[in-house]
Formats: sequence, C-alpha cells, structure tokens
Amino acid sequence: MIDFKKVISEIVSEKVETLNEKEVEELIEIPPNYEMGDYAMPCFKLAKQFRKAPNLIAEEIIEVLGENQYFEKIENVGPYVNFFINKKILAESVLKEVFNKKGQYGASEIGVGKNVIVEYSSPNIAKPFHIGHIRSTVIGHSLYRIYKFLGFNTIGINHLGDYGTQFGKLIVSYKKWGNREVIESNPIPELLKLYVKFHEEAETDPELENKARAWFKKLEEGNEEAKSIWQWFRDISLKEFNRVYDMLNIKFDSYAGESFYSDKMPKVIEEMEQKDILTKSQGADIVDLEAYDMPPALIRKSDGSTLYITRDIAAAIYRKKHYDFYKNVYVVGAEQKLHFDQWRKVVELMGYEWAKDCIHVPFGMVSLEEGTMSTRKGRVVFLEDVLKKAIDKTKAIIKERNPNLEDREEIAKKVGIGAVIFQELSNNRIKDYVFSWDRTLSFEGETGPYVQYTHARACSVLKKAEVEITDEVDYSQLTNEQVVNVVRLIESFPQTIVNAMEKNEPSFITRHIVDIAQAFNKFYHDCPILSENEEMKKARLLLVYAVKTVLQIGLGLLGIEAPEKM
Ligand code: ARG
Repeated sequence: MIDFKKVISEIVSEKVETLNEKEVEELIEIPPNYEMGDYAMPCFKLAKQFRKAPNLIAEEIIEVLGENQYFEKIENVGPYVNFFINKKILAESVLKEVFNKKGQYGASEIGVGKNVIVEYSSPNIAKPFHIGHIRSTVIGHSLYRIYKFLGFNTIGINHLGDYGTQFGKLIVSYKKWGNREVIESNPIPELLKLYVKFHEEAETDPELENKARAWFKKLEEGNEEAKSIWQWFRDISLKEFNRVYDMLNIKFDSYAGESFYSDKMPKVIEEMEQKDILTKSQGADIVDLEAYDMPPALIRKSDGSTLYITRDIAAAIYRKKHYDFYKNVYVVGAEQKLHFDQWRKVVELMGYEWAKDCIHVPFGMVSLEEGTMSTRKGRVVFLEDVLKKAIDKTKAIIKERNPNLEDREEIAKKVGIGAVIFQELSNNRIKDYVFSWDRTLSFEGETGPYVQYTHARACSVLKKAEVEITDEVDYSQLTNEQVVNVVRLIESFPQTIVNAMEKNEPSFITRHIVDIAQAFNKFYHDCPILSENEEMKKARLLLVYAVKTVLQIGLGLLGIEAPEKM
C-alpha cells in the first residue's frame, strides 16, 4: 500500500535540498477536514530555521514541487502546503492491498520475536462469575487478539483467584454445613451460600475466623485433606467458568492462578530478605513504601501466611524467567490501582528493571439499569444469565426482522453474544458505564448488531452479484465522495490497530469499524451497485468486498463473529 506520507517526504526532501526525509515526515499533519487536503505541511518550524516568513516558505516549496502524479493538487494556504491525494491512485493502492492480503490486511510483523503476556479474566474460584468480570475477560481477550495480529508471540493467562484465606473459610464452612451432592448439582451458587453462611455465623462465633486461618495454613503446608477439598472446589468452579468461556469463544494458554505460586513464594520472600527491603511490623513482614506516598505492602502475616500481593510478586518473577516477556499486561479493574502501584514498586525495589514492562490496564465499572436482570439466584447477576438473555432477546428480534432466516439459533448466538462484547468495548475502557439492553441489542446506532448487519449486507450484495471479485478494475470509477470516504477509512485501519495495541484500547477498533459501517451504508444508499454498467459494477463490488473483509477483521479483533446472514 502506498504510504502517502512517505511519498510527500521523499518528494519534498528531493526538491528542497536543505531538508531530509525524516525532517519532512515529522512536519506532516493530517488537516482537520479534507477540504484542506489529505495531508498538510506547516512551515512555522522551517520559518524559524530559515529566518523567513512561513507563507513565503510555503510558496517556495509549492513552486519547486511542481506537478506530481500522486497528488491531484498541491497548494499553499498561508503557511501551509496542502496535499490532495490522487483518488484513483488511493483507491487502487488500498483496495489492491485488501484484495491481496484478505483476512491478513492490517496484520504486521512489528511484534515478531517479542513475547507479550496478556493476563485477563482471573475470576475468584468459588465465587460467581458476574457481570463485573466480563470487562476484564472481554477487554483482555481483544487485546490478546490484537497483539497476536501484530505478530507478537502472545500468551493469555487466567490468573485464577484460587488461593488465600477465603479457602480456609470455605473449608470450615463446607465441613460444618456443606453437602457434596448439593454442591455438585449447582456448584458456584452453593459455594457462595457457604461463604455467606460463614460470615453470618462468624459474627456470633469468633472462633470460626481462627479455624479458617488454621485451615488455610494447613493448605499452605500441604495437608492432604485441605488440598483435596480445595482441589475439588477448584475443579468444579473451573468447569462452570469454562461454560462461559465457551459461550464467548475464549481460550487461555495458561490457568496458572494464585495457587500456582504457593511453592514459589518462600524463595521470593527469602530474596526480599536478602535484598533487605522487608521490615518487621507487629510480627508481620512488610515493605515500607512511605517514601513513595503509599501505604506499606503486607507481604507475610504474623502467622506466616502469604497474601495476594505476595503471589503477584512471585508470579511476575516467574513470568519473567519463564516467558522473558517484552510486556506483561494485567487487565484488572481500576479499583485495584493501588495494589498494582505497590506491587510494581516492590518489584522495582527488588532491583528488577523490567518492572516498567508490567502494565496495569485498568477499566471502569459496569452497573445495571434498574430492572435489567432479575437476580433469581441471589444478589449477584451471573454473566452466563446475561449472555443467555442476550441470545433469547436477539432471537426474538431476528425473528421479526427476517422470519425466513435459516440457522436462527446459531446466528442469534453470534449476534447476541457479539452485542454484549461490542457494548463492553464501545467506550474508553476507563469509563464507568450503565448496561442497557436497548442500547446493546439495537440494530441501529453504534452497536455490534449494526456492524454485523452491515457485514451481512455486504456479503449478500457479493452473493447476489454472482461475479468473481477481481482487483483488475477501472479505479477511476472509485473517486466519488461516498467511495473515497470508505476508502480512506480502510486505509487508516491498520494504523488504528497499532494505536489500539499501544494504548491497550480495543475501543479504537470498535469506533473505527462503526465509522466504516456508517460510511459504507451511506455509499450503499447513494450509489447503485448491481444495476450499473459492467465496469462500474466491478469496481464497486471490489469496494464492497474490501468493506466486508475489513469489518470481519475488526470484529474478529474484538472477539466477535461475523455471520454472513442475519
Ligand atoms: N482475582 C482477582 C479479582 O477477582 C483479580 C486478579 C487480578 N490479577 C492479578 N494478577 N492480581 O479481584
């Protein structure tokens, strides 16, 4: 694909001897609207350098540049040199690239040879996987796909919350009030009940807390009974979680959760002792972080048991050794910011310069509109129920819109679940938002169903056309405004993927494909396709093909399927 920015730097640096390519490239801007050109070169900096009025410099540059096939116009307005791309060349360059690369359009090799860990989802075992968890799961999964697409060797880790004092509580509660069959029949809600019961009873029976601590200690020491109950809790919980992951079409390369580090912590604590960063405080071991304006990090309790942060430190050291990561990305809610700040500081104090490559990718909270879900299973909203409801509601919508659609069941699944994912990835991740069914499932507006529907529409046009798509078309047919708007958005899509990776922000992609869908629908509305003469028809079909391809890639990067009919 032609890099027009590069073309500009080449021709300018060739004609203006005092400037080199790099200098020119740094000057080039994209004007606020296309009436001012596709690219502009402001001459203020040069004015300083050459001690000449910027307008004059702009004029001189125009003069020496003369005509150039890549641009239909180069003109100066005041201190700017504005470049207007030759639209035929633009369409040809972009559409040929999509046609040749197909599903790999926008893929790149910038990540080759670099290992990136994306840690996401990471629910707590024996607790419900609720609507709040969906954010980490969906944002992280999308980032996983984005990194992969850009060539990184990506490792998806589910850092399960499968360790800690709460397991002592659960074991006590299970041994006192639990029943194996009842739990097997409905694991997570039943385990949750036991957990809640523990806290109720502990209010009047303070001994329970001590017992719980003792059981967790046994677990840490490798006691057989404790281990086998814990293992069973973990297995049945994971089975439940996997049902949700299957619905979302999500996999992990590793489920190394907190418990995985249980035998790795003693060494890490020893290392901290050697490096002299631990202080005793009321029998516990802490790292004093006062100098960094943070509360101390509690590493080991007075009874010798370890904590969430201790496991995170062990995990990071293990990951560096094992994966030699280039980046280690944690997709975890913004409410854990302090935890991650403390933890990173401790790793830094241990002398690991790679602490800077560990990145907390925070996100805001979802809340539910009043009446969004009935909470029949208790006070929490289960993610699985949200997804099922999305599918049911979508089925009803599809039935009304397209009564004769085959595979309605399958398509409702792709659209319903896709809608929930899309909604999650629509706003900047740091924003809190309120979940609403109407907004999520609408076929109009900036929604998943809208983009999927646009994709299906493009598929249907291509199918109806019954001609083979080729990139040998007359590109001069692809220069009207509606077409060029689509082409430009396709051209800039690869850069959006890179930006999304750099900022760990999948919503860049969500927004870009909404823009493409909108521009395409405008084109579709204004420009007939199948009724046109052969040349025009072939050219416009190539554009339809490119849109279909790019929407599918974009949805795929978000973790959403693109059905061909809906
Ligand atoms: N299990 C934790 C929770 O549900 C999230 C874990 C985040 N990851 C980490 N490495 N600390 O709150």
